[in-house]
Amino acid sequence: MRVAVLAGGRSSEHDVSLDSAAFVREAVAAAGHEVLPVTIERGGAWVHDGEPLSLTPGGGLLGADAVFPVLHGPFGEDGTVQGLLELLDVAYVGAGVLASSLCMDKVVFKEVLAAADVPQVASLAVREHRWRSEPAAVRNELAVLGTPVFIKPARLGSSVGIAKAWGEADLDAALDGAFAHDSLVIAEAFSDGMEVECSVLGNSEPQASVPGEIVVLKGEWYDYEAKYSDGGMELIVPARLPDSVIADVRRLAVDTFVRVGCAGLARVDFFVEGDRVLVNELNTMPGFTGTSAYPKLWEAAGIPPAELCDRLIALGVERFRAERAGHSF
Ligand SMILES: Nc1ncnc2c1ncn2[C@@H]1O[C@H](COP(=O)(O)OP(=O)(O)O)[C@@H](O)[C@H]1O
Ligand SMILES: [Mg+2]
Repeated sequence: MRVAVLAGGRSSEHDVSLDSAAFVREAVAAAGHEVLPVTIERGGAWVHDGEPLSLTPGGGLLGADAVFPVLHGPFGEDGTVQGLLELLDVAYVGAGVLASSLCMDKVVFKEVLAAADVPQVASLAVREHRWRSEPAAVRNELAVLGTPVFIKPARLGSSVGIAKAWGEADLDAALDGAFAHDSLVIAEAFSDGMEVECSVLGNSEPQASVPGEIVVLKGEWYDYEAKYSDGGMELIVPARLPDSVIADVRRLAVDTFVRVGCAGLARVDFFVEGDRVLVNELNTMPGFTGTSAYPKLWEAAGIPPAELCDRLIALGVERFRAERAGHSF
């Protein structure tokens, strides 16, 4: 098959995407497919072979049989590119428009899970306008979350803009820092649980990998530095948890994937406090570098990167054909 691999993008996770896409291109080629590399520049232009692309609704993308949008964050993982690919009328890997945008927004994602009583840390949404006009009231409301609190831009990833705040002094700075990235911020109660990640693969009958445990080696929590610098973290597979908790993690990973309507792949992240398993977030296009948990967890399950990417492409094509034949997914 001819597979267009999208790399870069407009978000602050541009560089991470370049690394992820290089890994995916190699795996897709190793699986025997023809790779059509497409770079999305920070400014938004789509470039192939040094030439800007012009796209036509219904016109596909470079004659590709499938597109692998290896993009993280806004304008890539949030349903916008997925909507564009729908309009181009081409098959693509991963979640569709709604699941992509729903999972990109930490506030909406948590509300959807809360409606199904899925265990999570306590959290509150803060809108920038409110913070600017009534800071004292906002500080008061956030007090119920205790200290420390995690302050995050609602629609970003890779730990960009996230801060751990201990009290009033650094709470203000944390909020201002997060609002520099997004006008919607989520404040969360701190969890001292084990960080566990679980990879999911499939469409209507998804499978969960063995969960991995994140051990942070640089710094105190899993920030950008710990995620992407050499020796910043260690992934322990399987996570050092009792079998019953491992089973809960895997069940909750699949349940969450299905509940939000994902397709193809996702990595579902948890905090595990004793035998309590709390969902933290779901990434519809998780990191795909050589050290990333998503491919590593499948490799541990006996699925090497080439086979993994081959399956992901097949799942994208399967979904596209089913939808175009009138079956919703
Ligand atoms: N409520 C929390 N309690 C403890 N640590 C947290 C909490 N929220 C986030 N963290 C830490 O911050 C990291 C990044 O947060 P996360 O919500 O996963 O954002 P991102 O989408 O940027 O990965 C987590 O992996 C964890 O180390
Ligand atoms: Mg995360």
